[in-house]
This record gives sequence, C-alpha cells and structure tokens, in this order.
Amino acid sequence: MKPPILLTCRIPSASLARLDEACEVERLEGPVPPAVLADRVRGKHALICVLTDEIGRAVIDAGAGLRIVANIAVGYNNIDVAHARARGIVVTNTPDVLTEATAEFTWGLILAAARRIAEGERLLRRGAWKGWALDFLLGMELRGKQLGVVGMGRIGRAVAAKAPAFDMRVVFAEQGGDAAPSIEQASRLSLDELLVSSDVVTLHVPLTQATRHLIDRRALARMKRTAVLVNTSRGPVVDEDALVWALGERLIAGAALDVYEREPEIHPGLLEFEHVVLAPHIASATRETRTAMAGLAVENVLRVLDGQAPLTPVV
Ligand code: GLV
Repeated sequence: MKPPILLTCRIPSASLARLDEACEVERLEGPVPPAVLADRVRGKHALICVLTDEIGRAVIDAGAGLRIVANIAVGYNNIDVAHARARGIVVTNTPDVLTEATAEFTWGLILAAARRIAEGERLLRRGAWKGWALDFLLGMELRGKQLGVVGMGRIGRAVAAKAPAFDMRVVFAEQGGDAAPSIEQASRLSLDELLVSSDVVTLHVPLTQATRHLIDRRALARMKRTAVLVNTSRGPVVDEDALVWALGERLIAGAALDVYEREPEIHPGLLEFEHVVLAPHIASATRETRTAMAGLAVENVLRVLDGQAPLTPVV
C-alpha cells in the first residue's frame, strides 16, 4: 500500500506526478486553518506544507504517524520544530534553491525604493505626471553608498555579492548566525553601527524570538534620515507600528517591504505613504525557483519515506 501523505498547496505537475507514483496524496489548497490541518493530517506519513500553514503542537500531535514535515520555504518559523523533533518527526526546508531569486528581488526593492520607481508609476497612472522637470522625483544614487546587510547567511551573502555592480560598499551585522561572509571588503559592524552609517539597510535574518521586532523605534531612530529600509525576511522582524511612526516623522527616506507582520493584512499606516514600496511576499517567486522548491520538498519526503536521510533537514 502507498503511504498516505498530505499536501497543502498546488505544486508543479512533474513534482506532483512523482508524489502520486509513490504515495496516496490528499491535496488541500491553502490557506488551511490549523483545525483542518489537524483533522486531515491524522494517519498521514508525511506533510508537505507552506509558510502560511501553522504547524503547531496540535497539528503535530494529531499527526502521530508523521515521519516528515517538509516546508516549501527556507524559513520555518511556522513550524514548532522542537515539538516535531521530540516526536521523532523530521522537519525539512528548501534552502539554496531560492537564494538567487530572493537576492535579485531584494535588489529590485532597493532600486525601487532608492529611485522612487513605484511612487513614479503610481503618480503616472493617476494622470498626475506633468512632464520632465530637473527636480522631479529625485532619489538616492547607489554609487558610493553603503549597503548594510543584517544577517549574513546565504541570502544576505548573495545580496552583498551584487553590491560591487552598483559600486556600493558593504557592511554587515550578524544576528545569531555563524556564517562567514563570502565576499571581500565587507566589514562586520554591530547592528547599531550598521544602522547609523548605512544608506540602505536590508534584512536577511530568520524570524526567532531574538529577531522579532529587531527593527523597532530605537533602531529606526538610529538610521540616517536619507536611508531606506528593505525587508525580504519575515514581517515580524520589523515592528510595523514603529516603522509607520518613523516614516511619518520622516526619520528615514523610505522603505521597501515584501513581508508583513500579519500577512496578508497590510498595516493601514503603510498604505498612506508614497515613500514605501509594498510587494506581496514574492521574493522567491520565479518559475525556476518555485519549481525547484517544490521539487526539493518532494525529494525530501520520498527519501524519508524510503528510510533515507533528507537532503535539507532544518538544523
Ligand atoms: C519565503 O519567504 C521562504 O521562507 O521561503
């Protein structure tokens, strides 16, 4: 008999075909409330889920027969990993395959914020463009400026590696990770030193108790008034009330966000500002990367169900 598994999202057909061949797949389409997850996970041997699925104690306890929870995401703050481990359930994520897509998108946000691209597009669409003017929509040139990377893990390093193309110098602050930077001439600073001296601050830390609201009122008040804040990590790393306050007080020049504290809700204050770029959590959303993410999660499941080690267990 094929092992029964639960899948909570649509995945590319090639990956689904691999799963169907080896497993009895029950498919749900998110967002799936925890109570439904807890109900449907009963008797399953594997769960393939996404970052919007809350895999807490109740779901894990209901899934007593689970051997693996495979998250299709690099972040796994949606899973109670300690509880899964205590129950002997392997948890996997999808690192590496999304590093470049996320780094590319981060640069898109940096450019959009620094050069006011989204603001200009909104203005043009509402018919408010009066034509070229020497002093119209002036932004910040990146050349010669300082990029502050908070969290120098895989994605932080990939973002930093592209900085020389814009003639930016790089500084970084580690937040709990021990990954060494792979690029030359990047100086390590304390978070405070990074905040006071950087022209662009970009966040690449996982969401943990230590990084929740890492960027709060105090941190924002330390930033340059001309600086922009970019977040492609997790929404709760930034205290959104504090960010709205800092933007309103013009303590920073702008922000570009892909992630939010209460997705898919957007803080109403953020919607009021022109100097904010808002993207709908799509940093890894390329066809290539999403296909690879699903493929990696499926590979992890098939390996674990076959008694082999997964490729990317979370540590
Ligand atoms: C996306 O946010 C991810 O963690 O993969």
